[in-house]
Amino acid sequence: MAIDLTKIDYFTEEGSVDTVNSRTSADTDARMAEVWSALVKHLHAFAKEVDLKQGEWEAGIDFLTRTGQMCDENRQEFILLSDVAGLSMLTDAINNRELVGATESTVLGPFHVAGAPELPMGSNISLDGKGDSCLFDGRVVDRDGNPIEGARLDVWCDNADGYYDVQQPDIQPKWNNRGIFTTGADGKYSFKGAKPVSYPIPYDGPVGQLLKKLGRHPNRPAHMHYILSAPGYKTLCTHTFVDDDVYLKSDAVFGVKASLVAHFEKTPDGETDWHSPFDFVMVPA
Ligand code: BEZ
Ligand code: FE
Repeated sequence: MAIDLTKIDYFTEEGSVDTVNSRTSADTDARMAEVWSALVKHLHAFAKEVDLKQGEWEAGIDFLTRTGQMCDENRQEFILLSDVAGLSMLTDAINNRELVGATESTVLGPFHVAGAPELPMGSNISLDGKGDSCLFDGRVVDRDGNPIEGARLDVWCDNADGYYDVQQPDIQPKWNNRGIFTTGADGKYSFKGAKPVSYPIPYDGPVGQLLKKLGRHPNRPAHMHYILSAPGYKTLCTHTFVDDDVYLKSDAVFGVKASLVAHFEKTPDGETDWHSPFDFVMVPA
């Protein structure tokens, strides 16, 4: 028997979303089907809204191809793309909605390295000794202000030249400006390090070209990175930002939150040039 061609759901501009989504098999994982169908819906709406030209589609495919080709074990250009598009911070916001009272989270970024040295409280993590020195200290507490014992603070920042150690493996000492500190019963932490400086995210690839086309700078305001973990508590990935930085209002990856801007005070008579106190509040897992 001949196929009734009038009954086939051929692709049309008007019916594009339904045509594509109706192909998804009924036994596809429900969440997969939900996410895919929403992605198709919004992608098609985007193409229709901007009246996407063939050459623009080709340029977009070329951009994504180059973004993927830039990725290796040391460089994650797709995360960078997500960061500059605000998608990383949006995902972070969606996933931390109900953490009332906790220190706010922000982006992880590409420069965290697992396995940094475990150091005694008060240690200096600046191994190249460059730049202004700073004492970072405070307490890790729960929402009632009780100290959290056994909280691990995994910290990292750039050096005074604006580079992470992993960006300059032949120049900086391994583990420069990195360390892990574990609180005792008083919940207190303290370590010394370089006062962070602002720096550009890697902009020698497709994401840098995109920023240039958009008239955007690639800089992040100076910050210290933290991942705090403690038994029974939700792991917190955050930064503290230097309060006088010119890029606080225009972070290339939208990571700044007012509550994370830390006070940095000059300490001319201190052991370090600066002191930045900051308390972290963790919530139960
Ligand atoms: C960072 O802070 O290390 C970072 C975050 C997002 C993109 C690039 C760098
Ligand atoms: Fe950073």
